[in-house]
Amino acid sequence: MILMIHSPIFFTIFILLFHFQHSLSFSLSVERHENDIIVSPKGTFTAGFYPVGENAYSFAIWFTQKHKNLSNPTVVWMANRDQPVNGKRSTLSLLKTGNLILTDAGQFNVWSTNTNSSKKLELFLCDTGNLILREHNTIVSNFLWQSFDSPTDTLLPDQSFTRYMQLISSKSKNDYSSGFYKLLFNYDNLLCLIYDGPQVSRVYWPVPWLLSWQSGRSTYNSSKVAILSPLGEFSSSDNFTITTSDYGTLLQRRLSLDHDGNVRVYSRKHGQEKWSVSAQFRIGSCNIQGICGPNGVCSYNFRSGRKCSCLPGYIRIDNQDWFQGCKPSFQLSCDNKTSSNTRFQHLPHVKFYGYDYGTYANYTYKQCKHLCMRLCECIGFEYTYRKQSGTYSCHPKTKFLNGFHSPHFQKSIFLLLPKNNIDFSHENIVKDDSLVCSQNAPKQLVRLYVKGKDNRSVKFMLWFASGLGGIEFFCFFMVWCFLLKNRKHSSEGNHNYVLAAAATGFTKFTYSELKHATKNFSQEIGKGACGTVYKGVLSDNRVAAIKRLHEANQGESESEFLAEVSIIGRLNHMNLIGMWGYCAEGKHRLLVYECMENGTLADNLSSNKLDWSKRYNIAMGTAKGLAYLHEECLEWILHCDIKPQNILVDSDYQPKVADFGLSKLLNRDDFDHSKFSRIRGTRGYMAPEWVFNMEITSKVDVYSYGVVVLEMITGKSPTTGIQIKDKEELCHERLVTWVREKRRKGLEVGCWVEQIVDPKLGSNYDVKKMETLADVALDCVKEEKDVRPTMSQVVERLLRDEHN
Ligand SMILES: *[C@@H]1O[C@H](CO)[C@@H](O)[C@H](O)[C@H]1NC(C)=O
Ligand SMILES: *[C@@H]1O[C@H](CO)[C@@H](O)[C@H](O)[C@H]1NC(C)=O
Ligand SMILES: *[C@@H]1O[C@H](CO)[C@@H](O)[C@H](O)[C@H]1NC(C)=O
Ligand SMILES: *[C@@H]1O[C@H](CO)[C@@H](O)[C@H](O)[C@H]1NC(C)=O
Ligand SMILES: *[C@@H]1O[C@H](CO)[C@@H](O)[C@H](O)[C@H]1NC(C)=O
Ligand SMILES: *[C@@H]1O[C@H](CO)[C@@H](O)[C@H](O)[C@H]1NC(C)=O
Repeated sequence: MILMIHSPIFFTIFILLFHFQHSLSFSLSVERHENDIIVSPKGTFTAGFYPVGENAYSFAIWFTQKHKNLSNPTVVWMANRDQPVNGKRSTLSLLKTGNLILTDAGQFNVWSTNTNSSKKLELFLCDTGNLILREHNTIVSNFLWQSFDSPTDTLLPDQSFTRYMQLISSKSKNDYSSGFYKLLFNYDNLLCLIYDGPQVSRVYWPVPWLLSWQSGRSTYNSSKVAILSPLGEFSSSDNFTITTSDYGTLLQRRLSLDHDGNVRVYSRKHGQEKWSVSAQFRIGSCNIQGICGPNGVCSYNFRSGRKCSCLPGYIRIDNQDWFQGCKPSFQLSCDNKTSSNTRFQHLPHVKFYGYDYGTYANYTYKQCKHLCMRLCECIGFEYTYRKQSGTYSCHPKTKFLNGFHSPHFQKSIFLLLPKNNIDFSHENIVKDDSLVCSQNAPKQLVRLYVKGKDNRSVKFMLWFASGLGGIEFFCFFMVWCFLLKNRKHSSEGNHNYVLAAAATGFTKFTYSELKHATKNFSQEIGKGACGTVYKGVLSDNRVAAIKRLHEANQGESESEFLAEVSIIGRLNHMNLIGMWGYCAEGKHRLLVYECMENGTLADNLSSNKLDWSKRYNIAMGTAKGLAYLHEECLEWILHCDIKPQNILVDSDYQPKVADFGLSKLLNRDDFDHSKFSRIRGTRGYMAPEWVFNMEITSKVDVYSYGVVVLEMITGKSPTTGIQIKDKEELCHERLVTWVREKRRKGLEVGCWVEQIVDPKLGSNYDVKKMETLADVALDCVKEEKDVRPTMSQVVERLLRDEHN
């Protein structure tokens, strides 16, 4: 009897087991995600279940992490980014039918390759980062499916990007699900970036108002393919190419469409932890569509970076997320849109792209106003003066999207608002905002399980059991209820996955740790205006340069210090020195940087270690680092003290700019005013704006850079000057004027660089490149700041020369 009662259960389990063993080739389980992984032959990549939130996993491929505790590994591909699976009973299984399926919580199929084969298959991860499904023991190229065909937000070297693919950004740094930015080939054969938001979809790169040939693109090649080469060039069939700053070396590389809508190429040496940006698409910060959402206005300022704000009378929809934009804080219906209860608020220097009701040429302001009042959808208008015809044109707006505020715009917006006692000051347009760049707080990922189909095996068991006697049935019913209850428990209701905060890899050190690391601050390796630098060995044996800031400079709290330090710490470029951490304890403020074996540019110049190609590379690299500093999101980080002592040289003689951000860190009050109250910088390298107390912009760094380049070319220091008799003048004027004079006279003869070049170089240099470099440097040291090039123009000019 006992046996009879149990026999159906045994039988069922046996059948299930049999069924399983014969329908599966293999499976990876989420519970064993630490061990159930696939590693590429050389170990470069790993595939497996990757935690994307609390109890939420995606099947992913990432760069294998040597040190588990440093920071999150870099994910390059995900199978189910928008549908993470449960941390219990989820599996990736290769079925005997040839299909690879990802099963959530043991019952929902969330992803599959839809492949079909009767042969024996295997899943193989190549060292290129490509996961392929192929017949067992066949050549790599003979595959049924590959992950390279369905990229997420990243392209790896040699991965073809074709017309059938798109890259989609992730929502935020911590949320890997699909965001709104897409990279794809459009119908005109052009590679473009579009913002594909909930309400609008628009191309933002290449700049939509330029014709394709104006942005250097060709629409004729219909092959629609782009590829990142292992040496670091990204080129597309529409003639778009970018070359990385470290082009030519074999490095680990990836191209990513980041969550902020820009595309960057990152690189790092094998075995290194940190990625640096080696190239990026040139998109103005505010040109990225949708960045401030509907009814939001983007403004950009070199000191404060990119900012979003709401139009006056509008309020933010979601305080965590600017993409949502703003909504009106008032209600105006078409019926009560009369002149007695509305007014138009003038917003100068603002424009919104698109969504014009029409263009009405030669309209007076009054006519335009009446037009907008009559149109039900009109929520304001743009009123523009046209120079060519000498008339005004009127553009009633039905939506305010992609707002952009810049003091250079001649355009004005007139915003329809109710006439009541709320006073919306137009100051509001550039205030009341938070930095978009700031790290997003961890977000909740809401996952709603739909009730699945009845579990077939449970039904099967029930069917069997119901054929047996009452007791048997009763027993079985209990089992079934239990199973069902359990399933209900795990599959119904909301599962909130709280995403874990990202580990930044940026460490807070204690004072005693650093004291120990530097052996009680015994080994001094440098001294600067803001502090003294010591050599130290951290507890993990990394050699670090530890900068101890002068205690006199502190008037700020630890949290303010941390806020700024962490922004500086997140800047990551191969030509900027990397910051590993900081210490803020009581009066102590210390910064921990990577240490450069080869010392400063100043040391190297004076000890005559630099031949022409090294000098040229240093000029180029420094320009790239500064261009990144000035034009990334965080433009307030002017350097303000570029000089050979602040340019470090690594073992490959690549320059790394040090000490950026300190001018801000140490003088926070000054930055709140439009002018700096104190002169900063080093005599000899300082731009005239400091002396004449004029507005300080990023062009002060351009000036100092020019002086440094002249110093590298001539071997003459601007601080000591050149032996020529002259009036009382700033010493650097002498170096600059000396070179300028030589050029003026030399141009008549046709050769002038030969006369200024450092005699130590002999004739071992490229005359043409030298001439370009000297020309660029002379442009950088122009007295008038507006005629100096920007740092990215400098990079462009030097690169142009390199490629010819
Ligand atoms: C990782 O953490 C362990 C202990 O938690 C430590 O011993 C080890 O040095 C750390 N490794 C690195 C590279 O930080
Ligand atoms: C699998 O292949 C067989 C024969 O090639 C075909 O009949 C069947 O429709 C295929 N199934 C799928 C899901 O593609
Ligand atoms: C591609 O770009 C190069 C310069 O970068 C230009 O000389 C060439 O004409 C372009 N080709 C097409 C088809 O536009
Ligand atoms: C189109 O682009 C591809 C890839 O860049 C290139 O190989 C091919 O030669 C181009 N075709 C023409 C007609 O320019
Ligand atoms: C316009 O009408 C709506 C209701 O249709 C009302 O809520 C709103 O307050 C009115 N606005 C003004 C300015 O009268
Ligand atoms: C603009 O309007 C004025 C009068 O309203 C008229 O004299 C002038 O010719 C118009 N200009 C154009 C370009 O239509």
